[in-house]
Amino acid sequence: MLQIQVLRVKLRRGRKGVGGMLTFPDKKEITTEEIQKALDFSSMQVIRNLDIFTDSFQKAYSENGFYQPIPNNYWTTGFWTGEIWLAYEHTGDNRLKDAGERQIDSFLERINKKIEVDHHDMGFLYSPSCVAGYKLIGSQKGREAAIKAADQLITRFHPVGEFIQAWGPMDAPENYRLIIDCLLNLPLLYWAFEETGEEKYKEIADKHIHTALANVIREDYSTWHTFFFDMKTGAPDHGATCQGYRDGSAWARGQAWGVYGTALAYKYTHRDSYLPIFKNVCEYFLTHLPEDMVPYWDLEFTDGSNEPRDSSSASIAACGMLEMAKYLEKEDAVHYTRIAKQIMKSVYENYAVKDEKQSNGLVLHSTYSNHSPYNTCNHYGVDECNSWGDYFYMEALTRLIKDWRLYW
Ligand code: GLY
Repeated sequence: MLQIQVLRVKLRRGRKGVGGMLTFPDKKEITTEEIQKALDFSSMQVIRNLDIFTDSFQKAYSENGFYQPIPNNYWTTGFWTGEIWLAYEHTGDNRLKDAGERQIDSFLERINKKIEVDHHDMGFLYSPSCVAGYKLIGSQKGREAAIKAADQLITRFHPVGEFIQAWGPMDAPENYRLIIDCLLNLPLLYWAFEETGEEKYKEIADKHIHTALANVIREDYSTWHTFFFDMKTGAPDHGATCQGYRDGSAWARGQAWGVYGTALAYKYTHRDSYLPIFKNVCEYFLTHLPEDMVPYWDLEFTDGSNEPRDSSSASIAACGMLEMAKYLEKEDAVHYTRIAKQIMKSVYENYAVKDEKQSNGLVLHSTYSNHSPYNTCNHYGVDECNSWGDYFYMEALTRLIKDWRLYW
């Protein structure tokens, strides 16, 4: 008992300020000048990459700091196109616009030919690429592709369990589960509803959010990565990790998807009951950060550990806080904006690539899926850049510098 208490005290970060809110008084915020510099460098890095990555895509993670090209056949390729659009927003450079349009052609072909789309990651694929292209430059191909992707996504909805199944064949009990990451796939459905007026997209998204938030969040507001249901009755069965350290731990990126996912859930539903969920999931994340505010790959680990970091989780959570700040009372909005700026200061100073010879990515020290005795997923992309880490770094910075019209 004593040991547990000592561990908790050791893990706890920050200080409770006025109104019981967690603050980090000794941490500096990223400045406007630093944000500008970071976006200038990131945009140049994206432009430098266009030669290789216009008719191909970045692999999900770098190897020794460098991404290799892949065809458009993996769940992560939309992030690279999203970086192109963010760099286009920052610079107005038409080379980026042309490349973004070429990539939309590829996404349209992918959904038309149904290449590797039998999973739930249609939002990760089609929001930062095709929805973004439609919103930014009015791409009709982007609109067509994204609506087809939304149609694909709703084929994975289980009316009995009321959730969208993440992976695998729909009739297999061992696949009858949702995963917390899916919260980021749902904005595609809300966008499709707004575009077409068809209620089915919204109804499915609303139901999935309800089922997900009722089950993946534990009593202490840490989160399950995945949650299984009974295939016959749809009743909740049990949580399990896939990419986390162990079943009962909080995989850092899962918790970060929870922060951003709850903010997006609130944006689209305006259900008041999601507000305290956001705050508590966020607080769990923040209290389990190490000194420099960038988590280890699982929140089980903290300062002094030799485990790798997952810098992508820091940027994802910052994006979630900045999104939620739009809907909160002023005091809370200022609070979460400050924390997001403190986190991004550390990502920029301690993790971002500053020299193109070091890496063709943007942010180092991210972890896709690490080894652990209990991790049932594959192991790859440990302590490397990854495509979503780079994308959400740019998104967080963009959010901090202008009133950004989100791709989600
Ligand atoms: N959505 C999978 C991951 O975060 O690695």
